[in-house]
Amino acid sequence: MTTPVEPDPAALLALAVAAAREAADLVSRGREGAGEHVATKSSPVDVVTAVDAASEELLVRRLLDARPDDGVLGEEGAARAGTSGVRWIIDPIDGTTNFLYDIPSYGVSIAAEVHGSVRAGVVLNPATGELFTATTGGGAWLSAPGRPERRLRVGTPPSLDRTLVATGFGYRSEERRAQGRVVAELLPQVRDIRRFGSAALDLCALAAGRVDAYYELGLNAWDLAAGALIAAEAGAVVSGLRGAPVGEPMTMAVAPSVAEPFLALVTDLHP
Ligand code: IPD
Repeated sequence: MTTPVEPDPAALLALAVAAAREAADLVSRGREGAGEHVATKSSPVDVVTAVDAASEELLVRRLLDARPDDGVLGEEGAARAGTSGVRWIIDPIDGTTNFLYDIPSYGVSIAAEVHGSVRAGVVLNPATGELFTATTGGGAWLSAPGRPERRLRVGTPPSLDRTLVATGFGYRSEERRAQGRVVAELLPQVRDIRRFGSAALDLCALAAGRVDAYYELGLNAWDLAAGALIAAEAGAVVSGLRGAPVGEPMTMAVAPSVAEPFLALVTDLHP
């Protein structure tokens, strides 16, 4: 009996980067008329544009053309069980509200999961050209137009009160009321709060040392799969609440120097 060959994370990453670049071009071209075809999903403020759907369609086509036996999970409905052990987790535009308002903080996010573990991830911001990538054990990297590629390391904040924290909010008002109460308690205990509007890019910002910590309740797999690997490969402690897996239902990622007090604080605020 032959042992099946595990796919090489670097090869999966190369395919994801090529697909993300194509999707990012499509997303950039669609920005101008983005407001013309908008529908809503879980609430009146949870928007989806025709460009989200077109980007997802392109990504699924490119990935499955190259690897027809893989599975897929996408924010806009792509769901396919594969037979190869590889599943692509896709967010065709993470930060759709920013995309709609032309705020340059949204990303195409693709993760390659192999037998249930994410092994490669890419987040590409079409508005800035910043490309964040990681493979398990291969580190996290940022390349940007006109700048040399660089390896990412999380920051080293000295204490909780000097920790810059990114977070985000869900789309339903009840959820937001509860999240608002948590932020109100957290804010006086940290350096400050940032709300950029894309969970995938928040995790990449942490990897790049642009914030020191990130937490958000109720993300979906496509929001966090690639970004969580990028943050972890940059040295972040990535965790769920009380030993639960990341994203079920809490995602926390933080620089190791303040991991203990930060994780304790967020856990304490979420009884
Ligand atoms: C959203 C963004 C946002 C986060 C929300 C996500 P979408 O993703 O990542 O930052 O706060 O929880 O749903 O809807 O723009 O793909």
